Amino acid sequence: MPIKTIIEPFRIKSVEPIRRTTRRERQKLLVAAGYNLFLVASDDILIDLLTDSGTNAMSTEQWAAMMRGDESYAGSPSFQRFRKSIQAIMGFKHVIPTHQGRAAERILFGVMCKKGDVVPNNTHFDTTRANCEFVGAEALDIPIAEARQPQTRHPFKGNMDTAKLAAVIERVGAKRVPLVMLTVTNNSGGGQPVSLENIKAVKKICARHKIPLYIDACRFAENAYFIKLREPGYSKKSPREIAQEMFRYADGCTMSAKKDGLANIGGFLCTNNDLIAQQEKDLLILTEGFPTYGGLAGRDLDAIAVGLNEALDEDYLNYRIVSTAYLGDHISAGGVPIVQPPGGHAIYIDAREFLPHIPPTQFPGVALAAELYVEGGIRSVEIGTLMFGKRDDKGVEHPGPMDLLRLAIPRRVYTQSHIDYVVEVILEVWRRRKGIRGLELTYQAPFLRHFTARFRTAPQHKAKS
Ligand code: F0G
Repeated sequence: MPIKTIIEPFRIKSVEPIRRTTRRERQKLLVAAGYNLFLVASDDILIDLLTDSGTNAMSTEQWAAMMRGDESYAGSPSFQRFRKSIQAIMGFKHVIPTHQGRAAERILFGVMCKKGDVVPNNTHFDTTRANCEFVGAEALDIPIAEARQPQTRHPFKGNMDTAKLAAVIERVGAKRVPLVMLTVTNNSGGGQPVSLENIKAVKKICARHKIPLYIDACRFAENAYFIKLREPGYSKKSPREIAQEMFRYADGCTMSAKKDGLANIGGFLCTNNDLIAQQEKDLLILTEGFPTYGGLAGRDLDAIAVGLNEALDEDYLNYRIVSTAYLGDHISAGGVPIVQPPGGHAIYIDAREFLPHIPPTQFPGVALAAELYVEGGIRSVEIGTLMFGKRDDKGVEHPGPMDLLRLAIPRRVYTQSHIDYVVEVILEVWRRRKGIRGLELTYQAPFLRHFTARFRTAPQHKAKS
């Protein structure tokens, strides 16, 4: 019989101890942090699922590449290797390094957009939206309808609604749409992939109106692997060949190398347009640095050059997608409501369904995050009313569209036993869910409040559904 067990395709050479704390300690730490896990020190966390960004474990080849890093201000060979590695996968004419993804976004929108423009995307990530709005343009999310139904299964829930895209361009006129973006995979929509069929259909509409198509490529390798698994005609192609095809339909991209670059810092911006590239490089020099390092050390460029290729390794991708689904499938089998099907980099628990007795205005996602911390030292992040809701001038809280709790899996960091532990903790909290209380805000910043907000438990009599 063929062996079915899928193993982590690496062995561990360097280890980092994680500190155990007692339940009582965690309860105290949580109250001191105002129930906001962003305000808890990482030393006090046992399993950190806050983000998959910059938390990757690098390989021996990446560390070796870092030693080859050349720190010349201009024309470093590290940049040549970085560009060559990106061009072999993505094929774009111009490659501009940046210190992370949002720097690429700021430069892209700064050069291409102006007040009154509209930028359609399947779903803008929060920094993408903020950078687009910062130049006065409208960031428009037009995912397919299934994207907003957590329990509905669809193989490519990250797809853009192409009928809506065509209608938007008709309505506002192509002149007001300087670019269209596709985020692969769709992070804010549950880590869900976009199909090649959808990429082609979006490109066709863009081409008809001479609008460039940009890909937010953060998780391009995970997206390519989902295409291999789920899209007819691609099962025999390698993830690299599929990625190359994805980028053939695009005119440029933004990238955070902190995700599928398998690095701890870095990003880049690509384009095929000479004039735009020149303007972007001019802006880059103003804040990021010279175009052959763009805010990064030479060694970072080398780590990314290697990481991008490792992220396309089929054994690695199989482990990555299977291990994320392992967490989702095990908690789902125990009854926990999650966004279905499991995404590539994270599992999203539907906190509103998990805690139906806590109204959205008492932050069920934040309350659930707090319980997972108290129960097992796990850190997750709310993507719901705290992040996307608003408190009006009269102090009335308006809920976000959904209350999700994201468990993001750092790449190559945790083993199956860590994940088994996470499953056990979540199922224990699930069993005692009826006793969990809602929260009320005691402090919020005027913008991006989720990073620094503070809470206390809400009085019990207010916690009605
Ligand atoms: N685009 C997407 C889809 C992202 O997920 C992120 C970051 C960015 C752009 C910005 O990149 O952080 O390098 O500036 N997402 C992280 C997360 C922060 O936790 O999902 P960055």
